[in-house]
Amino acid sequence: MSATTRDLKSDIDEIMPGVIADRRYFHQHPELGFQEFETAKLVQERLAAMGVEDIRTGIAVTGVTGLIKGAKPGGPDKVVLVRADMDALPIHEENKVDYVSTIDGKMHACGHDAHTSMLLGVGRLLLDRRDEFSGTVKLLFQPAEEGGGGARVMIEEGVLEDPPVDLVFGQHVAAEVPVGQVELRPGACMAAADRFEILVKGRGGHGAQPHLTVDPIAIGSQIVSALQTIVAREVDPTKQAVVTVGAFLAGDAPNVIPDTATLRGTLRSFDPEVRELIGRRVGEIAVGIASAMRAEVEYTYAPGYPATINDPEQTAMVREVAEEILGAENVREGELMMGAEDFSYFLEKKPGCFFFTGTRDEEKGISWGHHHPRFDVAEDGMAIGMEVMVSAVLRALNEE
Ligand code: NI
Repeated sequence: MSATTRDLKSDIDEIMPGVIADRRYFHQHPELGFQEFETAKLVQERLAAMGVEDIRTGIAVTGVTGLIKGAKPGGPDKVVLVRADMDALPIHEENKVDYVSTIDGKMHACGHDAHTSMLLGVGRLLLDRRDEFSGTVKLLFQPAEEGGGGARVMIEEGVLEDPPVDLVFGQHVAAEVPVGQVELRPGACMAAADRFEILVKGRGGHGAQPHLTVDPIAIGSQIVSALQTIVAREVDPTKQAVVTVGAFLAGDAPNVIPDTATLRGTLRSFDPEVRELIGRRVGEIAVGIASAMRAEVEYTYAPGYPATINDPEQTAMVREVAEEILGAENVREGELMMGAEDFSYFLEKKPGCFFFTGTRDEEKGISWGHHHPRFDVAEDGMAIGMEVMVSAVLRALNEE
């Protein structure tokens, strides 16, 4: 263990009470996507107090960025972006902790409270290490990861420019991974998530006179069955995809055939070609079946977050750093995840790595999954997340 690493550990010990206090404050005051006004205000105050430069606010409504400029002479002059998401979820918390959410129906059930406070800690640790790097760290606090695509809006508003960003890093706490471990994966790691809607337009009538109708429920059922063949028969079996119909809305009386049926679903994939294929084939199959059965279909496809694709070189670098800190046995290649994450938009534009830091502690009863009303974060995992992130950023800035 080098002297620097030991110093970093003891500095983290020193700031941990503050990091935990901030995390608990955010946890008690959850705000939904694009409404993170109080969260952003505290972030801005903290950044200003610690001496972060060029603080910009109100990006994508509530997003905040700030710069830390290295003071090491010579060396590469890169700009490395580190991101935290700030939004909570519309979930009513069921935990019995003294830092429980104070707002009915809103909860930090994905750990973005931890991400925000950890990035404030990372900022402080990097400010104290300015003489260890050249170049610039851009801290980025993002709104609306949970469906709002805050990352995309911030990119549209220019956060990857001025100064232009070279590399991007982010992390997520992981309820499935024990404290003391890190998981990461080169290449695709989280899925693209797209939505669709199929409106089947038949002709309603009396349930006892089906021959006088065009029954959208019978047709919709055939469509649901046929959609299952896309993954089974059309997608390369060595690749992954999901086609799920999650809503089937039609009729309300047992003896009435309705005019229309609405099917809504989600599509998950990793490979851009598979993504295109399943999005197109859902519509073609729906239209084909409906026309064979005398109905019409309106097909709507709504692209969501792209797949999260880690740069292999940067992921290998983070892996090496994490192994030095935690030991090789505690750093694993994660499984592919069918969930989606809007850090993907940053990784579409710039190379980097998104990794998972364990915050599960079964002995403390912290084992509920993300988005569960009893989700919680084992806070000692936050210290490890900061240590890995600070070390990775320092290495990235010092590598030619
Ligand atoms: Ni999340």
